[in-house]
Order: sequence, then C-alpha cells, then structure tokens
Amino acid sequence: MTGHDKQQSVAIIGLGSIGGIAAACLADVGRHDVTGCARRPLDHLTLEGPDRTITVPLRVITEPAMAEPVDWVLLVTKAQDTQAAAPWLARLCTQATRVAVMQNGIDHVERVAPLTRGATVFPVVVYYNGERLAPDRVRMRIAGDHDLAVADDEPGRAFSALLDGTGLRVRREADFVTLKWRKLLLNAVANPITALTLQRQAVLRRADVHALCLDVLEETVRIARADGATLPDDEPKLVMERLMKFAPELGTSMYFDRLAGRAFEVEALTGAIVAAGERHGLATPLNRMLLTLLRAINEAPRETPTPR
Ligand SMILES: NC(=O)c1ccc[n+]([C@@H]2O[C@H](COP(=O)([O-])OP(=O)(O)OC[C@H]3O[C@@H](n4cnc5c(N)ncnc54)[C@H](OP(=O)(O)O)[C@@H]3O)[C@@H](O)[C@H]2O)c1
Repeated sequence: MTGHDKQQSVAIIGLGSIGGIAAACLADVGRHDVTGCARRPLDHLTLEGPDRTITVPLRVITEPAMAEPVDWVLLVTKAQDTQAAAPWLARLCTQATRVAVMQNGIDHVERVAPLTRGATVFPVVVYYNGERLAPDRVRMRIAGDHDLAVADDEPGRAFSALLDGTGLRVRREADFVTLKWRKLLLNAVANPITALTLQRQAVLRRADVHALCLDVLEETVRIARADGATLPDDEPKLVMERLMKFAPELGTSMYFDRLAGRAFEVEALTGAIVAAGERHGLATPLNRMLLTLLRAINEAPRETPTPR
C-alpha cells in the first residue's frame, strides 16, 4: 500500500518554516490523519502560498508522551535539534514507520536512524523557501521546478504518493547522491559567507569574495566526487551563476540565525563536507577554516550582532 491508496497516519516534528508548510498542505488535502509535534500548543495553521492563503485546523501535541506509533514521520527540525527530537521519534516509530528527514545536509540517515527503533529513514531535499511569519502562520515561496526531491526508490516513491494532491511537487531522482551534493554546494558558500560577514547575498558579488567562493567550491566538488557524485569540471562556476540569480538582498538561514542570536546549522553543512573529506582521506583546508570560525561563533555566549 502507498500513501495514495489508504489513509496514513502522519506526524510532523517541527512546525517551523518548512514543517509548517508541509503540515498545512497535508492537512488541507484531508486524506491523511495528520498530527503536528511541537513545543507550543496550536490548533490551526495559516499558509500564505504562491497562489492562495489557506487556514487549516491541525491536531498538535506538545508532549512526546501523548504520541503514538504512526505510518509516517516527517522530521523537520533544524539538523542541530535532531537529538532534542529523539523523545518524539522514540514514541512515534516502529519498524513499520517511514521517517522522511526534511533537513539540509547529506548525512540524514546517519544522523537520524539511531533514534528511530529500526524505522526506514530516508532523506528529502527541500527546494521551496519557507518563512515563519508567526507561530501559526507560514509563507511559502517557489524556488524552482520542484519543491522536494527524493531518491527514486521504494520509500521515495511512497513519499511521493503520500504527498499526492498537496500541491507540493516531488522530484524522484535516480542519482540522489549527486542531487544531495548539488544542494549542499549551494549552501556551502552562501550560508557560511553571509553568516561570517553578516551581510546578505550581495556580498557574494564582490570580486574577492566571488573568487574565494569558487575556491571553496572547487575543494568541495573534489570531496563530492570522492563521495560518489557526478559533477562536471565547471560545477563551481555553475553554482556561482545560480547564486548570482538570487536577489542580492536575500539572506540565508545561517545569516538570519546568527542575526537572531540562534545556533545555526554548521555541522550539517560545512561540518559534513569536512567529515566527508576525512572519510575519503582528502584535505579540506578552506572548508576547515570556515568550520572553525563558524563553530567559534556558534559555541560562543549569545549576543545579537548588528545587521548590515
Ligand atoms: N526555511 C527554508 O526556506 C529552508 C529551505 C530549504 C531547506 N531548509 C532546511 O529545512 C530544515 C528545517 O528548517 P526550517 O527553516 O523549517 O527551521 P525553523 O523554521 O527553525 O523550524 C524548525 C522547527 O523545529 C522545531 N523544533 C525544534 N526542536 C523541536 C523539538 N524537540 N520538538 C518539536 N519541535 C522542535 C522548532 O520549534 P520552536 O518553534 O519551538 O523553536 C521550529 O518550529 C533545516 O534543515 C533547513 O536547513 C529550510
């Protein structure tokens, strides 16, 4: 049976920018039994979508003790909050559960599988842009030809069927390793550089920063290839061309998290590149330098810096 054939129970851990949108889309279709798992109570979500705004009622629980095993878990916390979500996963998962990890990075399965009691854990790459406007209100912006991507395997196909009718466009990709690394390459420069300089994406247009980004990307492409990704020699140039298409006034999640004095997702992004380099016996001096600086900020006592 797939999600398309019969009602499935779906729990969404994390009703933030991305999870709030997925929860609202699934609840709106009304085909499945959807429960939000959050830290604060809520009974509805408003989604400002690209075409329309909807408000949907949603069952939300705030204590893992209230959770029961489900067919599907969508894990949509920031990667650094995965451990904090462990009590939810322990209550929601059995060996029959499928856990879709909707987080950035490349190490979804390694990060989450130990917490899921033998459930099937698989990665979902998120392409849509989400913004939480209020605890009960999220805005979705389209950022490409598809909104989500999964591997073209059994869990990926079942996930795609689960989302049928939600309006979220799921791409199924045979070469998922390459797709995951391509997404990480975009994040590998835009996030660290905007967070470190405390400047929006306009900073990537400086000639010296642009050149540095190309060097970081060259190094990262070497690691990605060793990890099994198939990437052309001009991939760094293509990544920068894509980044130049984004409006200069856009921020990144690391930039916004740093501005707000929150911890940011350094280990799942730059940390994952350095770790993959270590696995393959390849040096990553540029990424390692970025990682050291980002960790120093992330682990420092919190204060709110001045934006530019
Ligand atoms: N935003 C985007 O446009 C975008 C695009 C592509 C990929 N991504 C990736 O998507 C993932 C999710 O990011 P996001 O932007 O949705 O983050 P977010 O807006 O910060 O939302 C994360 C949510 O997780 C919740 N959470 C954390 N720990 C929890 C726990 N123990 N129990 C229940 N809920 C918990 C947070 O709750 P509180 O409200 O209580 O803090 C928050 O609502 C990240 O890996 C991010 O890199 C984001």
